[in-house]
Amino acid sequence: MLDKKVKSIILAAGKGTRMKSELPKVLHSIFNKPLLAYVIDAVNNTDYVDESFVIVGHEAEKVENFVKTNYENAKCVLQYPQLGTGDAVNKATPYLKDFDGYVIVVCGDTPLITSETIKNFIEFHDNNHADLTVMSAIFENPKNYGRIVRDKNKKIIAIVEEKDATPEQKAVKEINAGVYCINWKTVSNAFGSLQNNNAQGEYYLTDIVKWAVEKNLVVQSYILDNNEEIFGINSKVQLAEATKILNKKTVTKLMEDGVQIVDPDTTYISPETTIGADTLILPNVYITGKNTIGKNCKIGPFAHIRDGATIGNNVRIGNFVEVKKSVIKDNTNVSHLSYIGDAELGSKVNIGAGTITANYNPITKVKSKTIIKDGANTGSNSVLVAPVTIEEHASVAAGSVITKNIEAYALAITRTPLKVFSNWVKSKIEQHSGGNK
Ligand code: UD1
Ligand code: MG
Repeated sequence: MLDKKVKSIILAAGKGTRMKSELPKVLHSIFNKPLLAYVIDAVNNTDYVDESFVIVGHEAEKVENFVKTNYENAKCVLQYPQLGTGDAVNKATPYLKDFDGYVIVVCGDTPLITSETIKNFIEFHDNNHADLTVMSAIFENPKNYGRIVRDKNKKIIAIVEEKDATPEQKAVKEINAGVYCINWKTVSNAFGSLQNNNAQGEYYLTDIVKWAVEKNLVVQSYILDNNEEIFGINSKVQLAEATKILNKKTVTKLMEDGVQIVDPDTTYISPETTIGADTLILPNVYITGKNTIGKNCKIGPFAHIRDGATIGNNVRIGNFVEVKKSVIKDNTNVSHLSYIGDAELGSKVNIGAGTITANYNPITKVKSKTIIKDGANTGSNSVLVAPVTIEEHASVAAGSVITKNIEAYALAITRTPLKVFSNWVKSKIEQHSGGNK
């Protein structure tokens, strides 16, 4: 445990030009979750950080809107114009006037950073009674990153940006990951004194290192084990790369925990999905958002679980089935070609191929619920027009359109009666060939 309070500053004002998008960079998503949300969650999940300041600039309103509606403990601070990372952090200083604790600084476009790493980083800073800890990493190709410059005794003396570096400094492979832990009381005065007389004409956050060294404060680096964690997203190519990295990590962990995944390369599972042991995931399954899937289920191939699914044990979700915001209890089968949205399915329910829960009214824009209770079944190609309830053990006949509640143990059928015209085809053939004679 720490005696100090911890706050965070998340840098998210940059333009993200290379995304070539109208959407701000940090609102681009991986598994339907914006990059910024990954970073705020990682910070919050350390359990050390009680409040965050998100520095916004480019498309500030959109970012602020997202933060406001999703995070109570995060406040957006506007930086306009964007004069550099040092200027960005400086914008939060009025909110931290008498703060006597640690401030961590992270970038909003590094979604792979984990709460464990941030937690270890804060503890490392605290254990060493440091004034400033910089997260660093060893890169074989350090191009474009700030370099950690050390003196003969290996003591950190500065961070030098690529554009300002001497050839000797450019050869340094220890790079600045862009994550900092700052003892606010001793280091925050640095922000007022930053200068922009450098190659980019910007106020560099990295210059606080030199400032702290000159003041004889304790400056250290925390070298990352896993370089992937600080992978920053600048383009849609990198967004896809980050998705792959995150997915690989997620499916590997699931397999280690007993989930059978036949083809990890074509299986996409969001990190916020939990899956029980011995569930079998067949190829080309796509699972986004937050879901819970039980044990011994069989999912796929080609299934899409979109978000908010709570699936019990021994459930079958077959090919071309989409599930969204639904509860599906134990031993239920949804085996083929169905849409289950805003629904509650009891246990031992059997959903016939091509069953659709018609949950959305496009005129009123209202979504309604379908409830199918234990032991009920639907025949192939049936449409359940929500709101509607199918009680226990009721049976919906194939091809039916159900627009009102069906009582327990009843059969519901809306099909027009079958008519059979004996020899109808034969007579047509005879008529036809007779005419040709
Ligand atoms: C920065 C570091 C560099 C480090 C690298 C790690 C500086 C001067 N350099 O460089 O040492 O190796 O990150 O990725 O800090 N931002 C703002 N306002 C601004 C400028 C930037 O909010 O005025 C935000 C950006 O949106 C981004 C983050 O700060 O999230 C980093 O800015 P960026 O321009 O990417 O810095 P780098 O040049 O990559
Ligand atoms: Mg960058």
